[in-house]
Amino acid sequence: MRCESQTSQAEHEHDFLASVREGLRRQPKSIPPKYFYDTHGSHLFDLICTTPEYYPTRIEIGILERHGAEMAEMIGASCVLIELGSGSAIKTPLLLRHLSDDAVYVPIDICEPHLLHSTQRLQAMFPALTMQPLCTDYHRLPAHAFKRHAGRRQVVFFPGSTIGNCTPEGAIRLLQHAAEQVGPNGGLLIGVDCKKSPAVLNAAYNDAAGYTAAFNLNLLARMQRELGAQLDAEQFAHHAYYNEELGRIEMHLVSRCRQEIRLDRESFAFEAGETIHTENSYKYTAQEFQHLARSAGWHLQSTWRDGAGMFDVHYLSLSATEPLKLAR
Ligand code: TRP
Repeated sequence: MRCESQTSQAEHEHDFLASVREGLRRQPKSIPPKYFYDTHGSHLFDLICTTPEYYPTRIEIGILERHGAEMAEMIGASCVLIELGSGSAIKTPLLLRHLSDDAVYVPIDICEPHLLHSTQRLQAMFPALTMQPLCTDYHRLPAHAFKRHAGRRQVVFFPGSTIGNCTPEGAIRLLQHAAEQVGPNGGLLIGVDCKKSPAVLNAAYNDAAGYTAAFNLNLLARMQRELGAQLDAEQFAHHAYYNEELGRIEMHLVSRCRQEIRLDRESFAFEAGETIHTENSYKYTAQEFQHLARSAGWHLQSTWRDGAGMFDVHYLSLSATEPLKLAR
């Protein structure tokens, strides 16, 4: 199995350095979350998904197990399914098993070894399906990957509430971009984590086993390893909390003391308690999400939700012809 790659290793390293440098110059300091996902980070993320506190993976799997057949029916036969940030793609078989044999699956992920490994596993499970893995940042959906399937219905599959890692404005831009790529007949099947009690949300991003902390701190280790950054990772701590006013989990790396990070002949000073903001995870009510998607051109067709109302999977299309449904 081969995978198409959008950026070379050298370009990637250049991007990483430029993003970190720019982010640390900013006030408040921040680094974009896509750099979490090197091989070690992707592995840590898989471990987060197995913790009792991190409910989204488990609940979304339950929804796909129960309603995957209905979802596949809405998607239709002979489709092209494009998964954004596919990672280990553990949820994907729950959908692929209901698709027709002539369907095409295009997993997109930023971590090439992870992408290849998971696509090989899926190809062995579903030998009839055509699989075309693409290694890139899913914000840069390449037009040619969509153009070559023009004429078929193309459906973007975006599980895991990863859309919550964009700001609402960024989410609208990404969904608009997806709408342009899939064409008028296209669809969007997307998992969205719902607003809920802060205690449940805070626990989900502060698992007792410490995987989320290790995942956050891996960013610093990666800066040391790949960019030669000089820093004391022990003097930073993981901090994640639900910002109720903004409806989002915020993840930070907090400096435990006054210190500096040196990177490429530049020095970045930290006060004790100062943070690098590494990730947001926005939570949406179904209504809020529907509204957001609507401003990106998408019409809600159906929502599937777990019994406790923790997590939603929505199917949307670009025309508002079919009836609205809510299934539990
Ligand atoms: N899309 C996931 C989310 O926001 C990603 C995620 C889960 C995550 N736990 C994390 C990202 C911890 C960074 C750190 O829920």
